[in-house]
Amino acid sequence: MQPMLNIAIRAARRAGTIIIRSIEKRQDLHVESKAKNDFVSEVDRQAEAAIISILRKAYPSHAILAEEGGAQKGNEYQWIIDPLDGTTNFLHGNPQFSVSIALTKSNYLEQAVIYDPLRDELYTASRGEGALLNDRRIRVSGLGSLDGALLGTGFPFRMQEHIDTYLNTFKALYPFVSDIRRAGSAALDLAYVAAGRLDGFWELGLKKWDMAAGVLLIQEAGGFSTDFGGGNDYLKTGNIVAASPRIHKEILQTIQPHLSKGLKR
Ligand code: IPD
Ligand code: CA
Ligand code: CA
Repeated sequence: MQPMLNIAIRAARRAGTIIIRSIEKRQDLHVESKAKNDFVSEVDRQAEAAIISILRKAYPSHAILAEEGGAQKGNEYQWIIDPLDGTTNFLHGNPQFSVSIALTKSNYLEQAVIYDPLRDELYTASRGEGALLNDRRIRVSGLGSLDGALLGTGFPFRMQEHIDTYLNTFKALYPFVSDIRRAGSAALDLAYVAAGRLDGFWELGLKKWDMAAGVLLIQEAGGFSTDFGGGNDYLKTGNIVAASPRIHKEILQTIQPHLSKGLKR
């Protein structure tokens, strides 16, 4: 196993322990609102501090981009961290959240870990070496078309100016698929695409730390991730379509005629 992946796993498990320990006292937690519908609790901050301390100890010269603490400069390696993806679920005791850690080298994704601490499910990938769930190889879904597909998505609840565009994409896909899930942790949704538990996923307005680890997992599991124009700018625009190759093409073709002109692809 790659030593950098090993360190990331240690950090993700440590954050998972902190999150699980705090579930019972979630009603007493200090919670702040960063923006409309965007919450951060002391658990997000503690989990992030624990991850960064483990990564920094092992790799003091690496750069860091973390959701709560922002960016710290370093060499060509950068860790991209979402210490608790699905904070709103966590704060309601809704059991769907994860820890997401990715490592890039000169902006190329190298390592990925997404950890679901409640189910003890650990998704890992190293570039060129495939994707694993608890050490077993995973692949994206083998479904040949949208017919019968189970898709995942997220609502643009922090960017309400995009609700009409989003609903148009939803309405366009809805008649073709078997069902659509909005589970509340984008990182875990992407891990589910890598594991074939979802046939595809789309969301707009995400951040780098929601997507980076999931994108490498999907790539290593045989799938594709693009922005809404079919290009590679999803980490910049925040708009992502991710799926197995055939379903990915169909999702893009289905939603593209319904995107508003003002939306960054
Ligand atoms: C959120 C979750 C959610 C997605 C939001 C994200 P957070 O992350 O991934 O599923 O719809 O856009 O911001 O704030 O819980 O880390
Ligand atoms: Ca997140
Ligand atoms: Ca988060």
